[in-house]
Amino acid sequence: MGKSYPEVSEEYKTAIEKARRKLRGLIAEKNCAPIIVRLAWHGAGTYDVHSKTGGPYGTIRNSAELAHGANAGLYIAVKLLEPIKQQFPIISYADFYQLAGVVAIEVTGGPEIPFHPGRPDKSECPEEGRLPDATKGPSHLRDVFGHMGLSDKDIVALSGAHTLGRCHKERSGFEGAWTPNPLQFDNSYFKELLSGEKEGLLQLPSDKALLEDPEFRHYVELYANVILRFHLLMKKHFSKIMQNLIKSYRSLDLANSDY
Ligand code: HEM
Repeated sequence: MGKSYPEVSEEYKTAIEKARRKLRGLIAEKNCAPIIVRLAWHGAGTYDVHSKTGGPYGTIRNSAELAHGANAGLYIAVKLLEPIKQQFPIISYADFYQLAGVVAIEVTGGPEIPFHPGRPDKSECPEEGRLPDATKGPSHLRDVFGHMGLSDKDIVALSGAHTLGRCHKERSGFEGAWTPNPLQFDNSYFKELLSGEKEGLLQLPSDKALLEDPEFRHYVELYANVILRFHLLMKKHFSKIMQNLIKSYRSLDLANSDY
């Protein structure tokens, strides 16, 4: 299925490339890739495919949305990014946060995710409750991700982003990292998940849900075994959540691909 993206000016494209370089420097220097990826994902993951509301339109920087329980601590990411954003007034917050997410995945050794600019900033924040709850199981995940227009395959591939970062008691009530190297983007999240609980590492109930459900588990095993496939998939799936809201974008047809 084809897709088309909005046109942006040459000046805009140049600003994106300059911002990309500055973001690389910031993320490498501050080791803040995990929280930046979480910002990009929480910005995009509020999208509702039926009402076409929510999504990566920069609203997450508003105090009302930052105050949503799921977004605890994300003000830190907004603050970290702001000095670079100020240098590029031409770029929308919407594009800037998604670009930062892409750069954070690259900087930590993940796939290069194609970035398409052209998201406008919106003012209306989505209502609270559209992001997944870490204490729940497979049907909740299918319900929440289903609202975003995402499939089982998407859910498992995207969950692999927990290869990065950790939980902070004061933000989510959970504490600890999923993998031994939380600043390296690889498929160790899936490997750790399959190898069972270990002292010093964490598995959320929503992570364990990926093992309980046979359909989810199939993809966990696949990505644990073949890192290149996971990288390839992350590229497609991350770009799907980021890009599916740009005007005139038609969603990637991943349904019939075999991986
Ligand atoms: C499947 C449902 C998901 C649930 C229930 C979930 C839940 C959580 C929770 C509770 C935290 C800890 C926050 C904290 O205490 O700081 C977290 C962190 C994180 N999540 Fe998820 N998440 C999910 C999916 C995703 C997806 C799809 C992505 C990206 C594509 C993602 C990226 C991250 C990252 C990178 C962190 C680490 C943040 C840091 O170190 O500051 N998560 N997630």
